[in-house]
Amino acid sequence: APVAQPRAARRGEPEPVSGAVDAMSPLRAERAALRERIVAGASEAVRRQHAQGKRTARERLELLLDPGSFTEIDMYRRQAAGARSGASRPHTDGVVAGSGTVHGRRVFVYAQDFTILGGSLGAAHAAKIHKVMDLAIATGAPLIGLNDSGGARIQEGVTALHGYGGIFRRNVQASGVVPQISVVMGPCAGGAAYSPALTDFTFMVRDTAKMYLTGPDVVEAVSGERVSHADLGGAQVHAERSGVATGVYDDEESCLEDVRYLVSLLPANNLDPAPRAACPAPDPDADVRPALAEIVPVAPNKPYDMRAVIAELVDDADFFELHEDWASNVVCALARIGGETVGVVGNQPMVLAGVLDRQASQKAARFVRFCDAFNISLVTLVDVPGFLPGAAQEHAGIIRHGAQLLYAYCEATVPRIQVIVRKAYGGAYIVMDSRSIGADLSLAWPTNEIAVMGAEGAVNVIHRRELAAARDPERLRAELAAEYTADLMHPYYAAERGLVDDVIDPVDTRSAVAAGLAMLRDKRTPPPQRKHGNVPL
Ligand code: HXC
Repeated sequence: APVAQPRAARRGEPEPVSGAVDAMSPLRAERAALRERIVAGASEAVRRQHAQGKRTARERLELLLDPGSFTEIDMYRRQAAGARSGASRPHTDGVVAGSGTVHGRRVFVYAQDFTILGGSLGAAHAAKIHKVMDLAIATGAPLIGLNDSGGARIQEGVTALHGYGGIFRRNVQASGVVPQISVVMGPCAGGAAYSPALTDFTFMVRDTAKMYLTGPDVVEAVSGERVSHADLGGAQVHAERSGVATGVYDDEESCLEDVRYLVSLLPANNLDPAPRAACPAPDPDADVRPALAEIVPVAPNKPYDMRAVIAELVDDADFFELHEDWASNVVCALARIGGETVGVVGNQPMVLAGVLDRQASQKAARFVRFCDAFNISLVTLVDVPGFLPGAAQEHAGIIRHGAQLLYAYCEATVPRIQVIVRKAYGGAYIVMDSRSIGADLSLAWPTNEIAVMGAEGAVNVIHRRELAAARDPERLRAELAAEYTADLMHPYYAAERGLVDDVIDPVDTRSAVAAGLAMLRDKRTPPPQRKHGNVPL
């Protein structure tokens, strides 16, 4: 068949307008020179930045984004003239903003540039961040912010504070719509710290990142307390004690590499399914994991590492653990099973025997809510002796924080699979995604013990009078405990009542979970008819 000639070819070459090339050349050269100057930055400030072991904003974006994918916007933006006569008004206003790709997928980014006015946030700087945030929300793409800033630009007064308010408001608008990732690679002080706190993930670089509402000087002036930057708000403090940091890295490269990995696991927005990695078709024989029968001891009180169980269940034994060093008695990780991204929550018998305490409840609650917001199925691995008893926990609000986890699970509409690998007692059994609060599938290993409490404790309560009157109370207690165990504390008691859907061979757990995920893939639930619930914060 004849092929139509392209229209451009039919039109022929345009006639050059005489003199146009000559007139355009200096404009192009001027433009190129200006861009080159902006991109190069001030050499002395760049040297100081490197001397502190930090990269520049542009160098960081090169590490974060796919090569050549960055489109910068607002490069020429700067402080309005006349704000203060004689004030320097560098282009970019101390933040590099735009969009690029990570493993081929669109993201919006901003990177604060400490070499320009200490990365401090003035009106123009804030407006650039607002613009990329608006674009991320409008296009449904993740937002990544690289923070390295002296905070509100002091010489711009309230306009700087107004700029921060606009960021916070957009962080909240974007919450649950697009994933938001904050990376702290320098100071992040004052109210500035609230932007990372409002996002889904906060990563910090050891030695250079600092986050606090008031720095050491103000602390000393107000209360007389002397504390170093690192002890007040360094990466380690936020990773282990406050729970502010989702992860800590020794250097900027490994940090940004992990951000890239995280992005590869996440959906672009709340309407998209998570990306599926290519994966061989499920094969129950290939999915047998003999190690699972050895990792978990049958004796209920022997510790083991739940992360070893997770490694056996997920693709390539690869998972992204969040808050590794905070509330380690519960493990929260993103991983893939059969190529599909899942959120795994597991009690950790190696730390505090895997009890749920205040921090663990809060950590898991936030993770469950994140997964639910972004269509990520939940797999909950249960081995829990209960909630941590004691005045300290009660007074610190274990009821409120435990309720957060309960609320998060009850509200979650994504596919939910519970696997009871060993014991599940009392309220903690209910909270760890039991069928009663909405799990879609509950699987149990033959080792499992589900009960209101352990046999000894149960017998002491229900047979108190008999034991008090017995001639040999110890013997009677042992007999009654054995009876209680035989009657109630085995998986078939729950399975006979439909509270557990299947008792599985531990070595088949990977294939059983993969089959469950496939079964639940098209789960639909109507959205709740209310403005929003009132999470017990
Ligand atoms: C204007 C600032 C600045 C700021 C730093 N600079 N912070 N300019 N406003 N907030 C400038 C410095 O004057 C300096 O300019 C350059 O950035 C580099 O700063 P240095 O102090 O030389 O760097 P370093 O020694 O590494 O110390 C970094 C720092 C320190 C710890 C961040 O600069 C600092 O304490 N800055 C002030 C922090 C602060 O109080 N911010 C306001 C927080 S209140 P030259 O020209 O000398 O190179 C806030 C409220 C937000 O943010 C509220 C939101 C609701």
